[in-house]
Amino acid sequence: MHVRAFATATTALMGATVLFLPTSPAQASGVSGSPLVVAHRGASAYAPENTLAAVDKAAKMGFRWVENDVQRTKDGELVVLHDASLARTTNVEEVFPGRAPWNVLDFTAAEIARLDAGSWFGSRYAGARVPTLKQYMNRVSRNHQKLVLEIKNPALYPGIERETLKVLSNEGWLNPARLKSSLVVQSFSADTVRTVHQLRPGVKTAFLGTPALTDLPEYATFADQINPSYTTISRSYVAAIQAFDGPHGRPMEILTWTVDDADNARRVAGYGVDGIITNKPDVVREATEG
Ligand code: G3P
Ligand code: CA
Repeated sequence: MHVRAFATATTALMGATVLFLPTSPAQASGVSGSPLVVAHRGASAYAPENTLAAVDKAAKMGFRWVENDVQRTKDGELVVLHDASLARTTNVEEVFPGRAPWNVLDFTAAEIARLDAGSWFGSRYAGARVPTLKQYMNRVSRNHQKLVLEIKNPALYPGIERETLKVLSNEGWLNPARLKSSLVVQSFSADTVRTVHQLRPGVKTAFLGTPALTDLPEYATFADQINPSYTTISRSYVAAIQAFDGPHGRPMEILTWTVDDADNARRVAGYGVDGIITNKPDVVREATEG
């Protein structure tokens, strides 16, 4: 890890970093100079978030990269869900009244498999399920998609880093080809990102947040990406991140979230971000391509 010279930072500022990052996600967007577009929780503006339907929708819309959130059930199954509680995105309150606050960690995988995770979004999605991570990975594989996988609320699930890597390995996601170009593991917890890097150094990792510039040298020892909210970034912050080399000796990248409107998509693309994570990938693609 090191900070390159000012000239390199200037190059990063101009958005040219992707040109010498043959395995960068940005290049996978297929549009030279445009940021990678990542469908957040699947194409979650158009299908229920974190379901198989949401990744299928992203695939049908032509998006190869999806993002999802992984947590753990009471009996140790990894499942794909954003909130710590099942209440917002399933019918758990009807099926299991009296078990408030309906947290994932208080339910078994069999209980969660009974829940409807689609009706809250729309009747056409009635019967959609909370996928296990294994089911989710199989579908993403079948769709020939790539994944930014977030380990969500890791403080609630000690050891989830190792367990997540085990599922990824079992499903073939830690083979060299996939590691090179199809997977990023991210978290709001720096400890979790560091742990993933230490357990499997070949995995590309990302820290979710906006670290102070003075802390970037430390992050660059274990995170290939810094992925901040779009509300927190500036052109100079993007350039500062890209001026560092990450743990794999390549310039650190920045994917920003969650951008759902054209004006902000154009603004952050102008800053030279490597990728944009969005619930409305079509809107971002339209705003940033070309
Ligand atoms: O990928 C970025 C984004 O998912 C982080 O926020 O709360 O939507 O998981 P959140
Ligand atoms: Ca997420």
